[in-house]
Amino acid sequence: MSEAAAIEVRGLVKRFGKFTAVDGLDFRVERGEIFGLLGPNGSGKTTTVNMISGLSAPTAGSVAILGVDPLRQAQAARRLLGVVPQETALYEELTAERNLLFHAELFGIPARERAGRVSAMLELAQLTDRARSRVGTFSGGMKRRLAIARALLHRPSLVYLDEPTLGVDVQARRVIWDYILAMKAEGRTVLLTTNYLEEGERLCDRMAIIDHGRLVALDTPAALKARFGSSILELELQAPPAADLLAAIGALAGVRELGADGERLRVTLAAAGGGDAPAAAVPRVLAEVSRLGGAVRHLNLREPSLDEVFLGLTGRGLRD
Ligand SMILES: Nc1ncnc2c1ncn2[C@@H]1O[C@H](COP(=O)(O)OP(=O)(O)OP(=O)(O)O)[C@@H](O)[C@H]1O
Ligand SMILES: [Mg+2]
Repeated sequence: MSEAAAIEVRGLVKRFGKFTAVDGLDFRVERGEIFGLLGPNGSGKTTTVNMISGLSAPTAGSVAILGVDPLRQAQAARRLLGVVPQETALYEELTAERNLLFHAELFGIPARERAGRVSAMLELAQLTDRARSRVGTFSGGMKRRLAIARALLHRPSLVYLDEPTLGVDVQARRVIWDYILAMKAEGRTVLLTTNYLEEGERLCDRMAIIDHGRLVALDTPAALKARFGSSILELELQAPPAADLLAAIGALAGVRELGADGERLRVTLAAAGGGDAPAAAVPRVLAEVSRLGGAVRHLNLREPSLDEVFLGLTGRGLRD
């Protein structure tokens, strides 16, 4: 028998009245990986993780974390899992230190170990100098870091973070990303939800893209982009292109899509076949520009962003 997956979800469904929020999800998260659930607002991410963490009962299907049923073996599941919810639930009237001590007691950490563990976590969250301040006086980013520290206090094997950097500035976001990578380095499994593709791409070993409660794609970030199979050529010309130039570029082998905005062109290049890489079409595009009297001011060839991949997969953007 193979060892239990960190998380195994089978045929998971959640209905609220007639509305189906999660519509038959199947996936398996391996031990030690960072696994992302990505999807637009309302796609069912929080509903899914609530069922994984035993906060809500599935309408149909099953969940197991390290072989444990989070509803029927709630006590065991709680020890395995560290949760950083979307809405950070800290005691605003208590100090950072008191919040952690309270949680340490709740999670059965022996009294003699509590103070040491709490100060180590405050250090990790870079909040040592604010340990005695009331949480109510903290910024959003500081609260987020404290919530992460709290979730790690009892050394869970599996950590789940719901939108870990929502509403956090760029600098604090990087600090949080570093924590998440450190959790993986310590051998923990991390499940996170996000609607920031950059975050998914930086952190996740694999990502499940969900839309309307269904799995649209599940793969590594690199494979998701490769599957899309294209590069984007951005051109800035000296002057807006004439209609004949646009038509000529649009008709070239390897050009999948062409957008124009003033003197800027956005050309989606796809492999034209015969072992031809998307970039092989670049010289053909440039030849047409000079043949028809255009001049290039600036040129950039890049991979599609995951936002563009998502749009290609679902027909809608991540944050409409
Ligand atoms: N308790 C509930 N009762 C009724 N509908 C609910 C309930 N919880 C969630 N929903 C609905 O289920 C859908 C999925 O919600 P969910 O919170 O899982 O989305 P999400 O992907 O986490 O979105 P976000 O990115 O905004 O956090 C939404 O349409 C939401 O309104
Ligand atoms: Mg959510």
